[in-house]
Amino acid sequence: VNGFHNHRNSAYSPSPAKKKNLKRRASFADISGDENRSRKSPKKAHGDFVQGQNGMRMKRMKRITSAGSSTMGATGGKMSGKTFSIQEQRNQLPIAKGKEALINELRENDVTVLVGETGSGKTTQVPQYILEAGLTGTGMIAVTQPRKVAATSLATRVATEKNVSVGDLVGYSVRFDEASSSSTKIKYVTDGMLIRELLMDSTLSRYSVIIVDEAHERTLRTDLLLSNLKRIQKERNVASGDSGGKKGKEPASKLNPLKVIIMSATLDAEKFSKFYGNAKILYVQGRQHPVTIYHTATSQPDYVDSALRTFFQIHTDQPPGDILIFLPGQEDIENLEKSIKLYANQLPKDAPGVAVYPMYAALPASQQTSVFSPAPQGMRKCILATNIAETSITIPGIKFVIDTGKCKEKRYISRDAGSGFDTLLTRDITQSSALQRAGRAGREGHGFCFRLYTEDAFKSMPLSAEPEIRRCTLTSSILQLKCLGQDLEELDFMDKPDPDSIGSAFAILYLLGAIDDAKKLTKLGKQMAFFPLEPPLARSLMASVEHGCTKEVIDIVSILSASSKLFYDNSDNRESAAEIRRKFRHGSGDHMTVLNVLRSYEEMCASQSKSGRREWCRSQMLNERCLIEALDIRAQLRNACERQEIDYNVTCGDAEQPVLKSLIRGLVHQSAFLQADGSYKQIMGPSIVKIHPGSSLSDKKVPAIIYDELIYTTNIYARGVSNNGERRKNIGPPSPDGLVPRKEKVLEANGKTILKIKVGQTLNLQYRGDFCPSRHIG
Ligand code: CDP
Ligand code: MG
Repeated sequence: VNGFHNHRNSAYSPSPAKKKNLKRRASFADISGDENRSRKSPKKAHGDFVQGQNGMRMKRMKRITSAGSSTMGATGGKMSGKTFSIQEQRNQLPIAKGKEALINELRENDVTVLVGETGSGKTTQVPQYILEAGLTGTGMIAVTQPRKVAATSLATRVATEKNVSVGDLVGYSVRFDEASSSSTKIKYVTDGMLIRELLMDSTLSRYSVIIVDEAHERTLRTDLLLSNLKRIQKERNVASGDSGGKKGKEPASKLNPLKVIIMSATLDAEKFSKFYGNAKILYVQGRQHPVTIYHTATSQPDYVDSALRTFFQIHTDQPPGDILIFLPGQEDIENLEKSIKLYANQLPKDAPGVAVYPMYAALPASQQTSVFSPAPQGMRKCILATNIAETSITIPGIKFVIDTGKCKEKRYISRDAGSGFDTLLTRDITQSSALQRAGRAGREGHGFCFRLYTEDAFKSMPLSAEPEIRRCTLTSSILQLKCLGQDLEELDFMDKPDPDSIGSAFAILYLLGAIDDAKKLTKLGKQMAFFPLEPPLARSLMASVEHGCTKEVIDIVSILSASSKLFYDNSDNRESAAEIRRKFRHGSGDHMTVLNVLRSYEEMCASQSKSGRREWCRSQMLNERCLIEALDIRAQLRNACERQEIDYNVTCGDAEQPVLKSLIRGLVHQSAFLQADGSYKQIMGPSIVKIHPGSSLSDKKVPAIIYDELIYTTNIYARGVSNNGERRKNIGPPSPDGLVPRKEKVLEANGKTILKIKVGQTLNLQYRGDFCPSRHIG
């Protein structure tokens, strides 16, 4: 392929025919900016993938050759070519060579940091080694993962290796889904689930070994865990006389000692080690083949389109080998999946087929398995993944990586735009991610990585990501810690959270009634923390008990908690989608609208086959995956209600007022008031927001709205909007520091006071945002 200069491999040197293509390519240059071309005319587009790489000529940059590249040994060379039994595969993993030494170190040390290349066998093997060596005593091993899909797929893999079914010896536990039993000894859990377990058992006494995996990702929950594990070890290991980490001492109390293993795929181990008093660091010798990296000559604003072209260019020109494409999120993945399937159908008859597999955090367990097995005979496997495939899961057989250079990152929108929100923003990845992504191509042989960004863009990327604790909402964490009797401000963290974001989390918790003005946990706060929901939604659920509409509110909250969106809108199909979905529309807004959708879907469930339901969802432009997940979540929430002795069947029939009232209780800080010019002004935070064009309220003006989230584009859009039938009284002008009002401020909802701050009352919060609405309506 032209543009891939200086390559030894003859497949890359331009053949005469391809030289012709190069000439033609130059003449395509003027239409390269038409981003829709390939989507709109598939036939022509296919030709363009081969010929029209305008602006996408790749520059060969450098070759990553890791020291481990020649350590394959006599047996390791053909993992994918020949079929090995699962036990043979295990024995050939890089980590297997060091098994004995590793076990000895783990036996001797209370805390170990284990660093190893992705795919070396850390996550699947270490728990098994520990179990086989009898290091667990009577306790269990927990292996934490930042993402649900990794936890469930790893449990499945290890159960297969152990020849047991999932939920037996090997299980998992993730939010809204669990497979474990009394015989479970190895449990893959999300870090969030382990934190939930802390609420029931503050020393995690069921576990004798806790493996914090993917620690380099530094998610907020990983950091919370690391902090708590340090504390727990002090309590458990000192009490049991095991503080030195050496075995052979008699336990001094009933508490069994806890071993902590921190695993990371990158080399930033010192920081973890230091945090745990210079814990031992062990390195697993990796197995990495050279990867040749290409950059594009110009930047590629439409990275999905570029990925599509690059994919077909590789597919039509390159020898067999699977392709892994990194994309930021589920929506891009689904779009690209559709396009690839569409064009793959139009390939010449003799061309190999394409088998496409999506992989992202929210993928249901039932759809994950096939991604790990070899492609069907004569087909090329193409995996479309988020950064989950960077280090969390290793997919065998990858020879080519296409890296869009994008990821989604949770980011807290601070005072200047709003208050206490996390938004998922698509942004450039870090150099560390880029290297990990490229490395995925070199697991089994010489690989190739096609970066859809320039070399300069790579160089200007930050080296590594900021830990989540520095950039995410702390509301839920603070509430959970309060339940543990801990104060986030006082905990020992690897990186301290930002005082501003602590302050705004407190403000929200106070508004929700989870803490009182002395920042003490209330009874209500405790109940809220019991539900596996974000605090605002938990608050709405609690309010529904009071308003006699728990059935409805649980339904709505379940949809809002699903990991994918119910409605897929883009500017192309927005109008037609709105037209089709008009029948679900509720005059009060999007919350009652989604409830209508769920009810219709349930009717379909009762009367239609699986495929009938799927077809119905497609015809209504609904995302069935969201509905299926919502029903699952609902079952869990109903379960939780039962344990709290809340009757989840209490219904208000068709009335919307009780439902809205309940929602407002939780979303009070996510509300905005109509202004004279037709825009809305946030109640908390200074931003002017518009109703998202996809909302059922988009063409209405109501005095006040509540919303689920804000989307930041050219405007700030509120999405998931309902009429907030609230009236305000006695609200004076805003005070400069927001939280020290000059006179009593009261916020009322339908005659009921929902927010009251007394004169001169200082909440001792650091929050400096615009706490109360500053303008009267009209
Ligand atoms: O944790 P680490 O990245 O070091 O490796 P691992 O996740 O333990 O993976 C070890 C091997 O198991 C890899 O070669 C994977 O391809 C394989 N594996 C698999 O085939 N299926 C899974 N669901 C998970 C891992
Ligand atoms: Mg791993």
